[in-house]
Amino acid sequence: MIIGKPPLGWNTWNTFGPDINEKLLLETADYIVESGLLAAGYQYVVIDDCWSLKERDANGRLAADPEKFPHGIKYIADYIHSKGLKFGIYSCCGTLTCGGYPGSYDHEYIDAATFAEWGVDYLKYDFCYHTGTLDGKYFYRRMGAALANCGRDIVFSACSWGMEETHEWVKTTGAHLFRSTHDIQNSWASIKSITEQQERLLPYNARGCFNDMDMLVVGMEDGGSFIDSERRTNGCTLNEQKTHFSIWCMYGSPLMIGCDVRKMSAEAKAILTNKDAIAIDQDGAYNQVYRLTLDRGPAEALVCARLLENGDFAIGVFNMMDTEYRFVFGFDEMGITSHCGKKIVMKEVWTGEYEKVANMTCSVTVEGRGCRLYRCRLEDNE
Ligand code: GLA
Repeated sequence: MIIGKPPLGWNTWNTFGPDINEKLLLETADYIVESGLLAAGYQYVVIDDCWSLKERDANGRLAADPEKFPHGIKYIADYIHSKGLKFGIYSCCGTLTCGGYPGSYDHEYIDAATFAEWGVDYLKYDFCYHTGTLDGKYFYRRMGAALANCGRDIVFSACSWGMEETHEWVKTTGAHLFRSTHDIQNSWASIKSITEQQERLLPYNARGCFNDMDMLVVGMEDGGSFIDSERRTNGCTLNEQKTHFSIWCMYGSPLMIGCDVRKMSAEAKAILTNKDAIAIDQDGAYNQVYRLTLDRGPAEALVCARLLENGDFAIGVFNMMDTEYRFVFGFDEMGITSHCGKKIVMKEVWTGEYEKVANMTCSVTVEGRGCRLYRCRLEDNE
């Protein structure tokens, strides 16, 4: 199976951790459809860790915790499918999941068969409790082979946190996406750190095996979620959330919502459903993103570009510093020469406003931790 675009959806972990159940899943599925999130592209509803019993059943199969999921997992999958959504679940390559539930080690084929039977469309596969004697790649090859032979198309989402240079071997496993960093936290420091870690990974993000920068913290501004309580962070402002979302779109990451969508604010929803930003994330050409060299710019003044399928360019201007900064950049590096006979029309996707480009130079002042995300079109000079 080939997947052409980074998957979009929702995952239970960031907000709910182990506190998950049937009601939450069904209500969230309903809300994703009713609120327009599905129409915006968010299709996968993924149950993360802590859904099973602590023991396998008499046949060695994983079994759902009947208190959390009284009608079993297939019931959830069927409901989610009836809504036009796709269903994802979680397991781990070791003997236990990170939360201490049975992992799939040495049960890869039986688990893949079980998932196929339940109607699973997406498997997030974690990296806890594996033996130190085998390299990570072998664990992922096992599940990759099991999924490819289970009789159902299941997206394989490798979650080895970028360990052991994941990007170098993950495409040997059949994975469709790979987590490139440790877990995101609901803080600006975490967003900044994940962004910095991407710089050397940009050449490895490619169509068919997408670099997963981890779930979105957009909409979690109350600070009362599971990952907040675990790591004692205090959330991100809306402006920081907008920058976070813009970076994930610019870099073409899978977009997995991590907030309680039933309670998210209108502002958070507007960020998550911005059509132009999502179109950049999902652009069909999936050309590599690159960083522009700014004359004398500090490392935390980040400008990235990506050539899009229709000849437009996406340009992301990210001020990773705490204070305002004036960015000045040209277009030469993007292959747009001063004598190309075209003019550049830049639309900022958050304001919908157009930026003036004089002398083939863009200069823009961006507030601390803020961003501008542009879609640029080349037009003939009159
Ligand atoms: C790891 C993963 C997280 C989440 C938890 C669940 O930390 O990286 O995304 O799945 O495990 O225990």
